[in-house]
Amino acid sequence: MKERLQKIKGDTLEKIEKIGDLADFEEIRIKILGKKGELTKVLRGMGQIPAEERPAMGKLANEIRAEIEEKLEGKRKELEEKIKKIQEKKESIDVTANPQTVEIGHRHPLHQTMEELEDLFLSMGFDIIDGPEIETVENNFDLLNSPKDHPSRDRSDTFYIDDKTVLRTHTSPVQIRVMKSQELPIRMVSAGRTFRFDEVDDTHSPMFHQLEGLVVDKNVTMANLIDTLDMFIHALFGKDMKTRYRPHYFPFTEPSIEVDVSCFDCKGRGCDACHYTGWSMELLGGGLVHPKVLENCGIDSSIYSGFAFGLGVDRITMVKHNISDIRLLYENDQRFLEQF
Ligand code: DAH
Repeated sequence: MKERLQKIKGDTLEKIEKIGDLADFEEIRIKILGKKGELTKVLRGMGQIPAEERPAMGKLANEIRAEIEEKLEGKRKELEEKIKKIQEKKESIDVTANPQTVEIGHRHPLHQTMEELEDLFLSMGFDIIDGPEIETVENNFDLLNSPKDHPSRDRSDTFYIDDKTVLRTHTSPVQIRVMKSQELPIRMVSAGRTFRFDEVDDTHSPMFHQLEGLVVDKNVTMANLIDTLDMFIHALFGKDMKTRYRPHYFPFTEPSIEVDVSCFDCKGRGCDACHYTGWSMELLGGGLVHPKVLENCGIDSSIYSGFAFGLGVDRITMVKHNISDIRLLYENDQRFLEQF
């Protein structure tokens, strides 16, 4: 019996060493210490051995049992520790790991400028109107009082789709659309693409952007136009920006003006960029809506008057961001666009 006990002890301790998980552990525990376990069986058979050997055998058996139990307990703790560690690893958050970042893009600088301009005019009570890029020759030229022999109507200056349809050469035809269709008074701006047969260079592109403004009401005067443009230019470029209004000619306004602002480079002191005039030329054009244009749209010019203006969005974007070549705005090079 002694040998059997020693063998059980030896085998069991060896098996305990090799236990890999809780299922193994339970299997071995039951096999040895369970009701029908090997050691339990030996202990139960104690009655069959001679009475004088019993105490010593009993003692030995109990010692072995205690030793096995102790070993098992140690193993159980070891397994539990292992499981806890695995779980902790699974549940822990690595705060140093890079989060999955989603790169968010942004509006093209030209659209940013258009939105900024629209917001400014919106805050002054203007409506934002959309107009088509494909226009009738009538809206683009005739109703805007552009004479039939005006060079801008030539096929070498304008993209014709057919005799009656063009890619609009300016945003001014939106004026016609609004005056024909909307109730008075009118206060609107409209921004978008325009097209001319220009050779591409650092300041010219066959496709560019304009913003058009129109106000039609009773008693609209040049003073209203100048005040509105001053307000807008100061809001856009700061209060220190000086403005200069020069007489000019446009077929659809009378009188017509062109507006210059202080040179962006030297702020009016005089430098190479402004040819020492202190002025940055032709930021925008405008004037009082020609009575013929009002009449063309069915508006009584003896009761109503209006002012209109148009400006180049590309030009404003370029001076705002110090961009020297218009082509950069159209190349869609992300390395360039990401800067804005
Ligand atoms: N349409 C003109 C152009 O493309 C700009 C312009 C000038 C618009 C005077 C206007 C205006 O509304 O009144 O050069």
